[in-house]
Amino acid sequence: MRMTVFGTGYLGATHAACMAELGHEVLGVDVDEAKIDRLRRGEVPFYEPGLPEILKRQVEAGRVRFTTDYAEAAEFADLHFIGVGTPQRKGEFAADTSHVQEVVARLAPLLTADAVMVGKSTVPVGTAARLQEIADERVRAGVRAEVVWNPEFLREGFAVADTLTPDRIVIGVREPGGPVEEVVRGAYVPILESDPCPVIVTDLATAELVKVSANAFLATKISFINAVSEVCEAAGADVTVLADAIGMDPRIGRRFLGAGLGFGGGCLPKDIRAFMARAGELGADQAMSFLREVDSINMRRRERMVDLATEACGGMLIGKTVAVLGAAFKPDSDDVRDSPALNVAGMLSLKGAQAVVYDPQALDNARALFPTLTYAGSALEACEGADVVLVATEWPEFLGLDPAAVARVARGRIMLDGRNCMPAEAWRAAGWTYRALGRGVAVS
Ligand code: UDX
Repeated sequence: MRMTVFGTGYLGATHAACMAELGHEVLGVDVDEAKIDRLRRGEVPFYEPGLPEILKRQVEAGRVRFTTDYAEAAEFADLHFIGVGTPQRKGEFAADTSHVQEVVARLAPLLTADAVMVGKSTVPVGTAARLQEIADERVRAGVRAEVVWNPEFLREGFAVADTLTPDRIVIGVREPGGPVEEVVRGAYVPILESDPCPVIVTDLATAELVKVSANAFLATKISFINAVSEVCEAAGADVTVLADAIGMDPRIGRRFLGAGLGFGGGCLPKDIRAFMARAGELGADQAMSFLREVDSINMRRRERMVDLATEACGGMLIGKTVAVLGAAFKPDSDDVRDSPALNVAGMLSLKGAQAVVYDPQALDNARALFPTLTYAGSALEACEGADVVLVATEWPEFLGLDPAAVARVARGRIMLDGRNCMPAEAWRAAGWTYRALGRGVAVS
């Protein structure tokens, strides 16, 4: 099939390359010339394991191309995916849907034949219906543009696998069972034939809500374990053992019970806020008010980490050096948007410490966002002269650090594990004091 993908960020670029990998002919569209130039050369403008190989292969094969020209896109296909950003509005909780609106407003008048516009971005419920109105107002006489919602559940770091072998495909459409649904299903036929997954066909509003609800649930699960971890600390219990134990109940499950610095990134924090804002607009604000608490528990983890570092430095951060290992919001990503790691480094620096940050992939992005922090070229370099070593992102490289090697360059012998990921025993056996969020007397 021929299709376009509007937006070439994490979502759009991955979708475009993967659709080509499935055998389709794809045109990626973005307003950012520089990004389009890099993609045309087969370069992925962000770190995503496995994607560069696919993109290069498909660019060379000519199955995926990139443009900034909307007219070319309108001409190229009758199936248009939309994967542009829906960031948090400045000074508000609500999502900014102007980019999705702009795509539809610009594309609709250029269509010369009936077309399907498939939204993949995470949007407040009701957006698809509004986009349909915009499309109806703007299309030429005799042309129909149908808006469909097909949310994307991809995780950074696993974007390729999540796109090529999804857990489920959700299609929100005005007329289930009709020709429009068939067109959208067509794009996924190669997946459904090789490694079938459930396809849920529903209305537009439900499809939009599926996505925000999934993210709100995941955020709630993380904040639940982090709230329990506060009690564990107060009671001298170990949250990691507790999570293992409750996670064995299949109704609960161990995944997303990783206690520590909490969630960040470009999705979970903004999505729960947008969900609260939208529920409020719909008059259902009480229903989602618990998400405010989910958000506060999450943000509190960052402060607790700074408190722990302050305690470790004897009550005062001024003049102390803290090695902060990790800047990305999670491993296998170079994304620093709302990163707990960078936030903690920033707070340590504000309180007078010298925070020396190292990350295997996110250093450039971190430098651009927080230019005043000190950056190191390796984990060991970051630990040179450090009074405290703080692990803020669970990169495998940090898990494998040799405590003896770190001890040779560091000044202090305090390991603060912000992700409950380090081998505590090995560090203690090498003479380090090991402290972690949510693990009280049992391990300190
Ligand atoms: C998330 C959703 O998982 C994905 O389905 C959606 O499409 C986009 O948002 P992503 O932002 O890539 O994906 O990251 P995810 O793996 O969900 O992690 C989010 C944050 O939660 C990270 O900061 C991670 O460190 C944190 N986290 C995750 C925890 O603190 N504990 C856990 O147990 C799991």
